[in-house]
Amino acid sequence: MTWLITGGAGYIGGHTVHQLAEAGRPVVVLDDLSSGSPDRLPDGVPLVVGSTLDRALLDRTVREHGITGVVHIAAKKQVGESVAEPLLYYRENLTGLQTVLAAAVAGGVRNVVFSSSAAVYGMPDVDLVTESTPCAPINPYGETKLAGEWLVNSVGRAHGLSTVSLRYFNVAGTSSPRLADDGVSNLVPMAFQRLTDGQAPLIFGDDYDTPDGTCVRDYIHVADIAAAHVAAVHRLDTATEPLSLTLNIGRGEGVSVAEMLAVIARVTGNPTAPEVTPRRPGDPARVVAAADLIHHELDWKARYDIDAMVTSAWNAWQLR
Ligand code: WQD
Repeated sequence: MTWLITGGAGYIGGHTVHQLAEAGRPVVVLDDLSSGSPDRLPDGVPLVVGSTLDRALLDRTVREHGITGVVHIAAKKQVGESVAEPLLYYRENLTGLQTVLAAAVAGGVRNVVFSSSAAVYGMPDVDLVTESTPCAPINPYGETKLAGEWLVNSVGRAHGLSTVSLRYFNVAGTSSPRLADDGVSNLVPMAFQRLTDGQAPLIFGDDYDTPDGTCVRDYIHVADIAAAHVAAVHRLDTATEPLSLTLNIGRGEGVSVAEMLAVIARVTGNPTAPEVTPRRPGDPARVVAAADLIHHELDWKARYDIDAMVTSAWNAWQLR
């Protein structure tokens, strides 16, 4: 049973490919290298360089490698960019998914794992977000992920595929410098960048209705995210009846921006006090996962804490 990992040369994809390969599963990577790097791939993993929009390439890849399952991670993932360029996001994230699914159906692929996001929930008004909390995305990025889940579910039902959609919360950390996130678009790398430039890290608003006034998120180590994919692949490969699951991947623990910056100050040894700016538009006060369903369905639980996330990310950052 060979799995195709789209986006496998990226940050989350690279971690997933490593863990699948370590678990002894044959994998093939498809990546357009727009943000991924071949350096992230373990030796011996075939890389097909190309786009998820290229149907002929997908058909050929599925046929030539005897693909039986697809982990579809390839996507654009920057919220701000999605607001400025919705056409780009709908094309890459939805037409790309549609093309992958069409090739999967045509090629007799049985199983699909889809990378979704907590962005499907928008501004949830609950302490812990469960998979049945209403979805109301507030930006095109989140819209493409929610519509992607619908497409995955409908295609699964119509064509007898088994599917797992994984809703990632706030991903951080790395297993090794080589696999690290090379972007600077989330809290941890943004704070590292400011500190490296001799500036104070920024807090986007401290007047939220939260214990310390700063936004609360559910940060999860990328190695735990990858392990959840391995668990999903295992569940799909051993399932005896069709499956259709949508699962949060989080730790179920809220951490505020101020708390995260305190850990960053300690780990980096840089005590520069954060600077508070006005709120960033579109930020919910609190988004924390209920992570019981994934534990029940995939026997998965997060292993790494905030310290491990920040320490591993900082070690990698210093080698950039
Ligand atoms: C975290 C918190 C900021 C930088 C986004 C997407 C989500 C998912 C993950 C992809 C927020 C605050 C940040 C800074 C700050 N994306 N912050 N100072 O917005 O929770 O989630 O990435 O799947 O869909 O929305 O992540 O890391 O940008 O911010 O105060 O310099 O840190 O306001 O409260 P976010 P983030």
